Amino acid sequence: MSETTTRATGSGTFRIGGETEVVRLGYGAMQITGEGVWGPPADHDGALAVLRRAVELGVTLIDTADSYGPNVSEELIREALHPYADDLVIATKAGLTRTGPGEWVPVGRPSYLRQQCELSLRRLGVETIDLFQLHRIDPDVPLADQVGTLRELQEEGKVRHLGLSEVDVDELRAAQEVAQIATVQNLFNLGNRDAQPLLEVCEAEGIGFIPWFPLATGELSQTDGPLADAARRHDASPSQLALAWLLQRSPVVLPIPGTKSVEHLEDNLRAADLELTDEEVAALEDAVG
Ligand SMILES: NC(=O)c1ccc[n+]([C@@H]2O[C@H](COP(=O)([O-])OP(=O)(O)OC[C@H]3O[C@@H](n4cnc5c(N)ncnc54)[C@H](OP(=O)(O)O)[C@@H]3O)[C@@H](O)[C@H]2O)c1
Repeated sequence: MSETTTRATGSGTFRIGGETEVVRLGYGAMQITGEGVWGPPADHDGALAVLRRAVELGVTLIDTADSYGPNVSEELIREALHPYADDLVIATKAGLTRTGPGEWVPVGRPSYLRQQCELSLRRLGVETIDLFQLHRIDPDVPLADQVGTLRELQEEGKVRHLGLSEVDVDELRAAQEVAQIATVQNLFNLGNRDAQPLLEVCEAEGIGFIPWFPLATGELSQTDGPLADAARRHDASPSQLALAWLLQRSPVVLPIPGTKSVEHLEDNLRAADLELTDEEVAALEDAVG
């Protein structure tokens, strides 16, 4: 295992829902499943090692979902990390069911969301889920019923904070009519900034913004990719630049880069200490733009 002195803590902290503190640079636990986010990982012990190393290096926000595996990611988190450190926040999701490898189907019926919450509680081995996110809005179910179910679960003490995933500003506003929304999770990275208007609303209202695909599924990590030259100039890796850009974009941004490799995890966490000038930020945006 390579040595690193860089801890995630250098990225600063954010309070989810104004109260639950997390270190901003987190970890996304989708990659520790099988091909097509289906079934167990090829390297079970390696997956446990990545999760344990993340926490050892100061990560306090781990993102997962019932549908990753399905079940596999949550089960590995429990196996690797239970009993959990007091400051560890596990964010899970429900609302996408799996019909096969690489297939994701929105299901937002209240009884289904409630069932998935109960199953995640059991798999993770917790009495309360720190952050429960609606993975996708099901277009066939009224939004108020879906968010209303999450709110009921919150009132019952089964979940602490509520989040949404892949929404626009209007959908966020509609959900806020029903419940307090602590976070949103949308596709956002140097190469895809479509969610910028949503990020601006989040920043204005203190809502955590969790960019998924922070490395564009690895495209931005490539040593011969669009960030390669800049990385050489900074004596950094392309991944570190992509993550530093996200961290500097707004104090409400909570990146959750995914990896099944301890080496890549350590590489990514070094972004916590990387500062970019305004000129460097502009140059990165031009390079990927
Ligand atoms: N809400 C949603 O709908 C949604 C959708 C997708 C994902 N997510 C969440 O977002 C998280 C992140 O997404 P993601 O993992 O798919 O994409 P990502 O973080 O953008 O990229 C992960 C990919 O980059 C590679 N990688 C990571 N670090 C690297 C490094 N330092 N050098 C070279 N390659 C590197 C990984 O390969 P190795 O494994 O080989 O390192 C992996 O293939 C997921 O884990 C999940 O929690 C949410």
